[in-house]
Amino acid sequence: MSHFYFSLTNPEVELLLKKEMSIGYPNLKLSYSRPGFLTFKAENSVLFNPWMSRLSGICLGKKTLGELSSLSKAWLWKRLDSFTAPDELVALSEKSLFKIGEKVTLIMMVGENEYWLGEYILKRSHFQTPGEESSIQKREVPSRAYYKIAEAYEAFDLPMDYEEKVLELGSAPGGASLFLLDQELKVIGVDPAEMDKSILAKRNFKHIRKPFETLNAENFQEDIDWIVSDVNLPPTVVVKEVERFLTFLEPRGLVLTLKLNQDRYLRMLKPIVESFRKKGFTQVELKYLPSHRQEIALIALR
Ligand SMILES: C[S@@+](CC[C@H](N)C(=O)[O-])C[C@H]1O[C@@H](n2cnc3c(N)ncnc32)[C@H](O)[C@@H]1O
Repeated sequence: MSHFYFSLTNPEVELLLKKEMSIGYPNLKLSYSRPGFLTFKAENSVLFNPWMSRLSGICLGKKTLGELSSLSKAWLWKRLDSFTAPDELVALSEKSLFKIGEKVTLIMMVGENEYWLGEYILKRSHFQTPGEESSIQKREVPSRAYYKIAEAYEAFDLPMDYEEKVLELGSAPGGASLFLLDQELKVIGVDPAEMDKSILAKRNFKHIRKPFETLNAENFQEDIDWIVSDVNLPPTVVVKEVERFLTFLEPRGLVLTLKLNQDRYLRMLKPIVESFRKKGFTQVELKYLPSHRQEIALIALR
């Protein structure tokens, strides 16, 4: 018997997802796809959880509106905001509540009149929204990094406490700093590039305008509680530098954006997760966030 799986992801990472499939799920074949929606077929059931997916699960196939009318509880996801969903499906989705650990039934509106049905188990690190859409409000921010850290914070319920100190590597122009400062954290931003003036003006922000390779233990008189990084350098370089910081700093947690602009970086993800586990981080997870492009977040907590 064939088994089908679905993946919802951002169109700009689909090629990378296909590459991940060829490495990690060689027995799954692409079955059907539209931008942002892909299904795969396997002859045997597998645990399907590709990194490059915003959301993945079991695909129960294409359904007619009539077939969907028997559902008493389901969320509705639309591939494009411009699609007009039938009122009854919108109402069904709005009244459906799912608890952590429960199986979610997801109606995926892939075209104006094209519906697919899927199932997945709702995890704590899911956004608890249909299709893993971000629930972070759009606002004027110095950069997209604001949303990346905000989404990681929400998905992992990051235990960042009042006035804890964050070392932010690659902080300019300051999207992530803005979010962290809004959470009443103190931020030391390391970046040779210029910070947004609004960030520089904040009392709890300190800019070290240098490449992070030039910093060592002498630059830190105070304890650092978190290391956050979103640097446009290969993951190997970022991880090596963060590991160097860990030789003289003892943060409670790390939130690293790993840029995956080359296929070969995919193979490095598992060893990177393992190496942070060995360094005493008990929870180490990778998550593809709604605002991500060719990148992934690594969250490590002690
Ligand atoms: C994607 S941007 C960071 C966005 C930023 N986190 C924000 O919230 O706006 C990448 C940044 O990495 C910085 N960068 C690159 N190499 C670096 C290095 N060796 N040390 C510190 N920053 C570096 C760049 O100057 C650039 O500002």
